[in-house]
Amino acid sequence: MINTIQDTSKVIRVENLRKSYKDLVAVDDVSFEVSRGEIFGLLGPNGAGKTTTVECLQGLRRCTSGKISVLGLDPAKNIGELRRRIGSQLQDSELPQRIKVWEALDLFASITPGENGWRKLMKDWDLESKANASFSSLSGGQKQRLFIALALVNHPEVVFLDEMTTGLDPVARHGAWDLIKEIRANGTTVILVTHFMDEAEELCDRLAIVNQGKLLALDSPFGLTSKYATNMKAAFSYEGDDLPSMEDIPQVKKVTRIGGTVEVEGIGSFVSLMAAKLVNHGIVPNDLRTRQPSLEDVFLTLTGHRIEV
Ligand SMILES: Nc1ncnc2c1ncn2[C@@H]1O[C@H](COP(=O)(O)OP(=O)(O)OP(=O)(O)O)[C@@H](O)[C@H]1O
Ligand SMILES: [Mg+2]
Repeated sequence: MINTIQDTSKVIRVENLRKSYKDLVAVDDVSFEVSRGEIFGLLGPNGAGKTTTVECLQGLRRCTSGKISVLGLDPAKNIGELRRRIGSQLQDSELPQRIKVWEALDLFASITPGENGWRKLMKDWDLESKANASFSSLSGGQKQRLFIALALVNHPEVVFLDEMTTGLDPVARHGAWDLIKEIRANGTTVILVTHFMDEAEELCDRLAIVNQGKLLALDSPFGLTSKYATNMKAAFSYEGDDLPSMEDIPQVKKVTRIGGTVEVEGIGSFVSLMAAKLVNHGIVPNDLRTRQPSLEDVFLTLTGHRIEV
């Protein structure tokens, strides 16, 4: 007898996923795996193929080719079981205009036998004061919070959040981040679609950077910046025409002057060496500021342009 050992820690496997809409290739040969309990991000600009990818994973779209397994299920074949075990917050969602907040939560909870924990979700997502309000009377951010709560009401093993915090105010946004961390701590795997760099950096254990349907890089936020954005940046104001040359400092990689601002990119101890040189020339920049490499720089390195949404 042959024993096959399956790696159950991988809750999602995607192999060579491809999705075309007529001539347009929206997802182009994308492969990745997600482990149980991970917060896995898909980051990329408008039209990158993020929503199409997660819709294929949730069985909402048929892929053109490739293999998908979510919780060991094929989304194209086991949609019923998949629906019971996953949660979905879709980028474009609607509910009947007159349904009340508590009714929607109660309705969605009824899909899971014995589930009555929706009151806690209503409190967590700050919807208690709107329990009796109709869906149509909610603000954009309140609707968004309701959709996130609805995605979580069946205690999903995997939750898909497509632009979770779009439309949320800064307080609600940070509150949402804390709640997502809590959900993950309770064992739920989170697939997060976003084009917010700070959100990806704060929440994601690993991040897939996608652009024009292609997966360009996949790693932890720290791994991505270490690999693709090694230069630190410094900037200061200087209007004079007697700026000493900084290019002869070996750690300096690039100097740019835009208007009255000097921007210098470099590695290692370039900031101290540059400051010493400036002071030697009698220039004391009083607004010298530095910036660590960010995911924005990673995106710039990988695509040649900044993320535009
Ligand atoms: N139903 C459809 N029919 C035809 N083309 C589509 C359809 N849905 C998406 N597309 C196209 O596929 C590409 C990927 O779209 P998708 O919605 O997956 O991008 P996205 O990364 O989620 O973008 P966004 O950040 O704007 O939500 C886009 O060029 C889009 O116009
Ligand atoms: Mg989208």
